[in-house]
Amino acid sequence: MLRKEVNDLVTQTGPGTPMGELFRRYWIPALLAEELPENDCPPVRVKLLSERMIAFRDSDGKLGLIDEFCAHRGVSLWFGRNEEGGLRCPYHGWKYDVEGNCTDVPSEPADSGFCEKIKLQSYPLVKVGDILWTYMGPKELQPELPAFEFATVPAEQTFTSKRFQESNWLQAMEGGIDSSHVSFLHSGNLNTDPLFKGAEGNKYNLSDYMPFFEVAKHDAGLYIGARRNAEDGKYYWRITPWVMPCFTMVPPRGDHPVHGHFWIPIDDENCWAWSYDYHPSRALTKEERAALEAGKGVHCEYVPGTHIPKANKTNDYLMDRQAQKEGRTYSGVEGIAIQDSSLQESMGPIVDRTKENLVSTDNGVIMARQMLRKAAIALRDKDQQPPGVAPEQQKVRSVSVVLPPEQAFEEACADDLRARQGVPHTSV
Ligand code: FES
Ligand SMILES: [Fe+2]
Repeated sequence: MLRKEVNDLVTQTGPGTPMGELFRRYWIPALLAEELPENDCPPVRVKLLSERMIAFRDSDGKLGLIDEFCAHRGVSLWFGRNEEGGLRCPYHGWKYDVEGNCTDVPSEPADSGFCEKIKLQSYPLVKVGDILWTYMGPKELQPELPAFEFATVPAEQTFTSKRFQESNWLQAMEGGIDSSHVSFLHSGNLNTDPLFKGAEGNKYNLSDYMPFFEVAKHDAGLYIGARRNAEDGKYYWRITPWVMPCFTMVPPRGDHPVHGHFWIPIDDENCWAWSYDYHPSRALTKEERAALEAGKGVHCEYVPGTHIPKANKTNDYLMDRQAQKEGRTYSGVEGIAIQDSSLQESMGPIVDRTKENLVSTDNGVIMARQMLRKAAIALRDKDQQPPGVAPEQQKVRSVSVVLPPEQAFEEACADDLRARQGVPHTSV
């Protein structure tokens, strides 16, 4: 349970809020690279941390993220003409470059110096992996580029998607570090989804519904270990790393690609659920890539031409009561991503955490909230740079492993929990 003021602090990310300022110290995913496919392609609307912006790629391939609204009289530059090294407002022709500098005001004499005084807010936009990342914080503190393993392996080893979710970012992220729900909500998928089925470890998930959680801190977040019973008194561990503020990685299953998420606030009531799948040491197979593109695993199908899931609030997520009754799906909703989004959206746009009743399987959630709150307050009151900004801290891995009872997972898996170039992940 959280007091109302704490719930407000950890859920609000607009300009000037403590959590909003915290998010602005990290590189965050802004767009899929494929959304700006070529020079002078159509500009794209981007809303992040409650700020409305326009992303565009100019004639030379330079990327920019600038204020959505024209400095003249506020027209949305989404209508703009992307031409000859800039984005031109279609109302009276003012033109901007990728850094938001006004480069032409056709109604004013060129030598008046007027347009030099006009500048829109702008942020860098940089491609790493399949993602265009932005940094919305103080320029002098801009960190090195992100180094998460899924974004730095060769292109044939990785796949990324994003979907629109109608809820606050934090309740979505909390689903990602609460792996106790897998034995219930996703139980129907472990033996059927092409990206999950066949792994040795699945049987432990499906036979032990009372995982014991052990949470260990690392430099920049947590390792959340869920322990279930295996054979001969041994334990099956699933270890989920969480890196501040919103990166998680699901523990792997057999030799399947390993997946995870970012939850990025659009505003306080909506977020982007980013999902990736990658294999650290081999290319994705044709079958795997086809399944990922078809929305299997943690990905989803879309309303054509959008990043809105096909199964969404307006159609009750295509609920199938018969499938629920027969146990083909536990909740009646198809697909892991939509099973999560349906329940997280059902909590309301910002869940009221003053009313919850937490149990021991929520320990990871409790500790993550504490770390976020502490970091946001330390930044606000002492200008202390938050953890997780340095690339070295982002090179983590999830693990699934069977260990003898006397072994602590942090020691037994110390190497396995770090990204190691070309080395397969540790997985059963
Ligand atoms: S509103 Fe953009 S040029 Fe006038
Ligand atoms: Fe889930």
